[in-house]
Amino acid sequence: MKAQLEAIRSAALDAINGTQTTAELDAVRVQYLGKKGELTAVLKQMGKLSPEERPVMGQMANEVRAALESAIESQSAVLAEKALADKLAAETLDVTIPGKEVKIGHKHPMYLALDEIKDIFVGMGFTVLDGPEVELATYNFDKLNAEEGHPSRDWSDTFYFDEDSRVMLRSQTSPMQVRAMETMELPIRIIAPGRVYRKDEVDATHSPMFHQVEGMVIDKNVTMADLKGTLNTVVEKLYGEGTKTRFRPHHFPFTEPSCEMDVQCHKCGGVGCPTCKGEGWIELLGAGMVHPKVLEMAGIDPEVYSGWAFGMGLERTAMRRFKIADLRLIFENDVRFLEQF
Ligand code: DAH
Repeated sequence: MKAQLEAIRSAALDAINGTQTTAELDAVRVQYLGKKGELTAVLKQMGKLSPEERPVMGQMANEVRAALESAIESQSAVLAEKALADKLAAETLDVTIPGKEVKIGHKHPMYLALDEIKDIFVGMGFTVLDGPEVELATYNFDKLNAEEGHPSRDWSDTFYFDEDSRVMLRSQTSPMQVRAMETMELPIRIIAPGRVYRKDEVDATHSPMFHQVEGMVIDKNVTMADLKGTLNTVVEKLYGEGTKTRFRPHHFPFTEPSCEMDVQCHKCGGVGCPTCKGEGWIELLGAGMVHPKVLEMAGIDPEVYSGWAFGMGLERTAMRRFKIADLRLIFENDVRFLEQF
């Protein structure tokens, strides 16, 4: 038994000192000192010894256990130190390496133009509304007096979600007029900017997704003069004092009378050039007096209240504001282009 204990002592000490990790050390501890360990197994045989041998072997076994335990303890400290040193080495940081440049973006020119537009209208007491891009035909057409069969309801023009043409991507921001009238207290002064969708091919002036800003005023005694006065003020604030506008008769189902407003060409000053296709004027928005039927459908008495509304293309407004020649530049997000604003 004495030889057995000696063998265990030297094998165990070798094993302990040879461990590289705390996990290995723990495995060695279990191998020798655990319940089913080698030293424990030897101790279990003590009963077979003579009464004289028992205390001698017992003392020796205790010495071996104590030697192993203290070896494990010091090896554990060595391994912990090594683990820390390894970790520090792995996490070395070279503070002299030059940093990576962080590129900070900035607002897109179209949103710069929108911010200006919002500021102008908010300054005149308007509220800015946001609304759904997935819209019901009820709001996009029916309640705006565009009845079944109206050309803009055609499948070739509009993105529908269902066979019955009831759910769609809004083709204009005008449904926000109805939503405002149905939910807000009178009088109403709102603008509602946002995305709209139409089945158009991409070219220098068209995109299947573009932005509009809708505007509407409903109050007592509102006239076409208010419409013209307000929109002229907006145009001068946006494009500079003295910017000329002109109003042409037009047709929209939800306004009566309806008009389109042109702004004098910024390139040629009205003489006629390629930018304005020789016209001297560039169309900016559609507008008109809110149709009595539209007021009635929204539960407003057209005998008491009247209103005016407009819808402007935001890309076109930004293009004029920043003298951008091609609509595609607005959507391509080429940094060399965007950086100029
Ligand atoms: N929704 C029209 C369009 O997309 C623009 C428009 C015209 C809006 C007249 C209006 C308006 O509010 O009164 O072409």
